[in-house]
Amino acid sequence: MPQIIAAAAAPNKTVTSDNIKSVYSKLRTAKAPVFKGIEGLAINQRQQMNGLELLARVEDKTVPLVFFDPQYRTVLDKQAYGNEGARQKHRASLPQMPEDIIAEFLSEIERVLTPQGHLMLWVDKFIVCSGLESLMAGTELNLVDMVTWNKKRIGMGYRTRRTAEYLVIFQKSPVRAKGVWCLHNIPDVWDEKITDRSHSHSKPVELQKQLIEAVTNPGDLVIDPAAGSFSVMAAAMAQGRRFLGCDLLG
Ligand SMILES: C[S@@+](CC[C@H](N)C(=O)[O-])C[C@H]1O[C@@H](n2cnc3c(N)ncnc32)[C@H](O)[C@@H]1O
Repeated sequence: MPQIIAAAAAPNKTVTSDNIKSVYSKLRTAKAPVFKGIEGLAINQRQQMNGLELLARVEDKTVPLVFFDPQYRTVLDKQAYGNEGARQKHRASLPQMPEDIIAEFLSEIERVLTPQGHLMLWVDKFIVCSGLESLMAGTELNLVDMVTWNKKRIGMGYRTRRTAEYLVIFQKSPVRAKGVWCLHNIPDVWDEKITDRSHSHSKPVELQKQLIEAVTNPGDLVIDPAAGSFSVMAAAMAQGRRFLGCDLLG
């Protein structure tokens, strides 16, 4: 029996797992080159180094998935609310990334991604609203999706109070979902409360686990060059993938 996925926009037509076969596939046929390790870089471990130096040592077109969560300078500027609480102080003390450094990271990420590989880029509402074009101008990565993360915790804000962050998903050409993205039950609004409060920008491990499973195979390499609390490492290891990443602060 075909499973009913959703009511279709066209009247009297229901979308089932049979009649959407041509678009969705649970089978991943995409394969990344076997990762043989990089001398001097540790796998599945926290490392203290500059993410650009780490990326520079990774070969072209070898990585199926990179997460990137920059320490946006512009966001801090916008957040200069005069709120001098302990968390704001901790945030302000993290190494900032000016736009030209973020552009360098993005260009290196594009270089190391396999064809059809994915970049999961965390942004906040200022970036969503002002547009991603200038941020992504130096790359040819294709915008393919976005997930809104409901942090289930009320944050700051002069007007509305922030509870969401956004994960924008890019794919390196050729753009394709079938055979590449194999999990089709991830909602694009994701509720997850963080329990690890050791880093002020920790991202949701459960969501990252699902995304890793969707676009990589067991044993594949997942990179996070600005890893913060290393939430991507926890997610990648839980899914049986290999993690390579670092943070300037270790
Ligand atoms: C937004 S946080 C990342 C949070 C992370 N996604 C998590 O789940 O915990 C950004 C991190 O980038 C780090 N950082 C800034 N510049 C860096 C650089 N050049 N290389 C590596 N890490 C850097 C900061 O120390 C900070 O921990």
